[in-house]
Amino acid sequence: MSHENQSNQAESTPAAVIVLAAGAGTRMKSRTPKILHRIGGTSMVGHALAAARGLSPRELAVVVRHERDRVAAHIAELDAGALIVDQDDVPGTGRAVQVALDALDAQSIVEGTVVVTYGDVPLLDTATLQELVRTHEQESNSVTILTSVLDDAAGYGRIVRAVDGTVTGIVEHKDATEEQRAIKEINSGIYAFDASVLRESLTSVDSNNAQGEMYLTDVPSIARKAGGRIAAVVSSDRWQVEGANDRVQLAALGAELNRRTLERWMRAGVTIVDTNSTWIDVDVQLDEDVTILPGTLLHGATQVARDAIVGPDCTLTDVVIEEGATVTRTHASGARIGAGASVGPFTYLRPGTVLGEFGKIGAFYETKNVTIGRGSKLSHLGYAGDAEIGENTNIGCGNITANYDGVDKHRTIIGSDVRTGSNTVFVAPVSIGDGAYTGAGAIVRKDVPAGALTIVAAPQRNLDGWVEQNRAGIGAAESAAKASSSHSSTEEGDPS
Ligand code: UD1
Ligand code: MG
Repeated sequence: MSHENQSNQAESTPAAVIVLAAGAGTRMKSRTPKILHRIGGTSMVGHALAAARGLSPRELAVVVRHERDRVAAHIAELDAGALIVDQDDVPGTGRAVQVALDALDAQSIVEGTVVVTYGDVPLLDTATLQELVRTHEQESNSVTILTSVLDDAAGYGRIVRAVDGTVTGIVEHKDATEEQRAIKEINSGIYAFDASVLRESLTSVDSNNAQGEMYLTDVPSIARKAGGRIAAVVSSDRWQVEGANDRVQLAALGAELNRRTLERWMRAGVTIVDTNSTWIDVDVQLDEDVTILPGTLLHGATQVARDAIVGPDCTLTDVVIEEGATVTRTHASGARIGAGASVGPFTYLRPGTVLGEFGKIGAFYETKNVTIGRGSKLSHLGYAGDAEIGENTNIGCGNITANYDGVDKHRTIIGSDVRTGSNTVFVAPVSIGDGAYTGAGAIVRKDVPAGALTIVAAPQRNLDGWVEQNRAGIGAAESAAKASSSHSSTEEGDPS
C-alpha cells in the first residue's frame, strides 16, 4: 500500500494545497472555533491538514480570519510548515483562495496544480485527493471539481452539465433556478486547479450574487469561457465530502470516522468485541491479535502490542501496553505497562507510571511518576507517587507513599524483593533496602536498611469490659455480655 502511494505521489505531487478555514461556524454555538472541534482525537482542521500533507504538496497554505490567533496557533502547533494567510474583509471562498495564492506567489510564483480543500471536512482522505489530482493532470484540465450525488442536495452548489454531459459550471443554491435546484450532483468545494488559470480567473470574479460574496464557484465557468477544460470526479463516498456545520453533524462524522477506524483495525487482525462501545482515535496503534473488550476508549498516541487484552471499560490516553499485558476497568494516561503485566480492575494510572514485565497494579490503586520493576506487585488499595520500586517486590494492601509535604514532592525508593505490611506509609524522602520487610501499619520516616524488619507500633492495650460499662443498653453491650457469660475459653485465641 505504501509503495503504491509513493509511486502515485511521484506522478501527482501538487504545487500547493490551500485549506479554507476563515469561516465563523456560527451554527456550532460554541466559544471554540468550529474547525478546532475534535473527532477521532484530532481537530477537524487537523484531519484536513493530514489529508493535505499526504499529497506531499510543495506548499501548504491555510486561510484564517475568525478567531485568527487561536486558529493560527493551533495550526502552527500541528504543522509548522503551513503558511497561515489572513483573509481580509472581502467575503467569499473566491477571495479566500485569492489571498492565499497571492501570499504563495509572494514567496515564489506557483505553477502547476493547486488543490483547494476545507478545514471542516474531516473525513476527506489523501487517497481521494490523490485521485482528484491524478485525473486533473491526466486529462490536462483547467479545473477538476470533486462532486457527489446526494438525495437531498439542498444548500449545496449544483454541478451544471451540458446535454453531452460536459461540466459547464457551478450554480449556488441561493442563485439557482427551480430547474437547477433539482440537480442532485453537488459541488463538494474541493477542487484541483491549474495555478495560472486560477490566478487569471479570480481577477474576473465579482460579488454580483445572492450572497454578495466572491464565489470560488464562478472560476470553472470563467475558465471554460477562456477555453479551458473543466471536469468532475464523482465521489461515491458521501462522508468524504461532508462538512460539519453543527454538533449533530459533528457527532455523525465522529461516529462514521470511528466506524472506519475500527474496521481498519479489525481487518488488520484486532479483535473488537463490541464496535458500538469502542472508540479509537486515529493515531492509536494496535498490533495483530490484540483484543479490545466492550466499553474501551483508546485516545491519543496509545499503542497496544500483540496478545494484549484491553477492557472492558478502559479509558486510556497516550498509554503504551506491551505484549500480552491485560488492562481491565482502568483509567490511565501517560503510562507504560510492561509485557505480561496486569492492571485493574478499578485502577487509575497517571502520567509517568511505568510498570515492569509481569508486574501488577491491582484494584483501587492510584499511581503517578512511579517506576515499578519486573514482577513487582501493588495488588490492592493504595497510592504510589514519585517512587521507584525494584523487582519482585510485594507492596502490601493499603500502602501509601506520602510524597508531598505541602510544599515539595519527595521520592520514595524501594528495593527489590521487599515485602511491605498492610497499611505501610512511606513518608518521603525515604528508602527501603533490598529484601527488607515492614510490619503492618508502619509509618516509615527513616530509611530501612537491606534485610531489616521495620516495626512501628505503639503497644496494644485492651480495656476489659469497657463496652458493657460505657455503652450499656446497645447491641454491642448485649453481645459482649452474652459472650462473656457463655464461655471464657475464647480469650486464649483472641486474634487481636
Ligand atoms: C460552498 C460552495 C458550494 C459548495 C459547498 C460545499 C462557494 C461559493 N460555495 O458553499 O458550492 O456546495 O461549499 O460545502 O464556494 N471560507 C473562507 N472564507 C470565506 C468564506 C468561506 O475561508 O470568506 C471557508 C469556510 O471556512 C469553509 C469553506 O470556505 O471551510 C466553505 O464556506 P461555506 O460558507 O461553508 O460555503 P457554502 O456556502 O457552504
Ligand atoms: Mg456560505
